[in-house]
Amino acid sequence: MQVNLRESWWIRDVEIPSRLVLAPMAGVSVQAFRRQGRRYGAGLVCSEMVSCAGLEHKNERTLGFLRVARDEHPLAIQIFGSEPSVMAEAARMVVSAGADIVDINFGCPVRKVTKTGAGATLLEDPTRACAIVAAVAAAVAVPVSVKMRRGLENGSRACLELGPRLVDAGAATLTLHPRSARQMYTGEADHSLTAELVELVDVPVVASGDITSRARAQALLATTGAAAVMVGRAAQGNPWALSEIVDGNAGEPSREHVAAELIVFVRETVRELGERRASGFLKKFYGWYLGRGRFPKPFRQELVQVESTEEVITRLLVATPGAAELVERLEAELPDPADEILLDAMPISIYGGG
Ligand SMILES: Cc1cc2nc3c(=O)[nH]c(=O)nc-3n(C[C@H](O)[C@H](O)[C@H](O)COP(=O)(O)O)c2cc1C
Repeated sequence: MQVNLRESWWIRDVEIPSRLVLAPMAGVSVQAFRRQGRRYGAGLVCSEMVSCAGLEHKNERTLGFLRVARDEHPLAIQIFGSEPSVMAEAARMVVSAGADIVDINFGCPVRKVTKTGAGATLLEDPTRACAIVAAVAAAVAVPVSVKMRRGLENGSRACLELGPRLVDAGAATLTLHPRSARQMYTGEADHSLTAELVELVDVPVVASGDITSRARAQALLATTGAAAVMVGRAAQGNPWALSEIVDGNAGEPSREHVAAELIVFVRETVRELGERRASGFLKKFYGWYLGRGRFPKPFRQELVQVESTEEVITRLLVATPGAAELVERLEAELPDPADEILLDAMPISIYGGG
């Protein structure tokens, strides 16, 4: 069965213009990543997980202002925490920052998060999990979504018990990454659980985990009944995977296109994080963009050694002079940064999120 991924669907009154959602990824889902995801066909993008305690305390260790640009919508901002009242307040803040949907993280397997009673721990604390969803849903007018793993332990089916209860508590959609927290990112996502969850709830379900191609996305949508697929790792440094999945645009991008997208990504990230933080943050992206046989390994290694992002851009332009014109065209299409809403609170990044 052929499924049309360009079809829109709804999370309550929010229209999502394609059946592909860009995954929230801590240490990855900066604004540049989300905007690029939208340009390449994601119908919904999501921020990385933001600590509700960090929002509450306006923590100085935070990583930058929470910014929402005009061309990101529809956008979900994801929050994590374990106290219903603090989560409710955080939800109000992210909505004032411009979120169209508040997403709650019940999937993060990282100990730093689970030991505080947040993230995946809530999969096995249904009373608290439902209290969080109810408090957040009561605090904001926008739809509330929840992103879960299957459970804490391998083989767990906790998500199937919890899912319907979360919907009763006010969740307007559920995303399932059907690995256990113990599995982290090993093994495979078991999407037979996604199909079971779809049967149990009357809200849209989003399938997350191991979706890397159009064929896989089509098959998953057809066999599980999910409303949309969520793509994470396959999109790292590779927005072309998104257009392949949504529109079937197969084929490798030219080196000029790759370099141009990377240059725009670097510039936008420097604007968001500042040069000092961006130069370290961006290093992993060089390998992600320029790997896959696109550029020779020594060139990638050279870029990682370079300290200033201006120098990285210069070397990319020397290697692919044709990229300059594409960069100009891309930048002309991006909205003016002055349109952004700035919130006087910042997200905390804890890598490894869900
Ligand atoms: C580096 C990294 C960071 C992640 N951070 C988050 C996060 O902040 N919140 C969340 O709900 N999931 C997070 N995830 C999980 C992804 O959203 C997604 O569910 C998972 O990677 C499976 O999808 P994939 O196979 O398409 O990558 C993260 C995953 C990775 C690889």
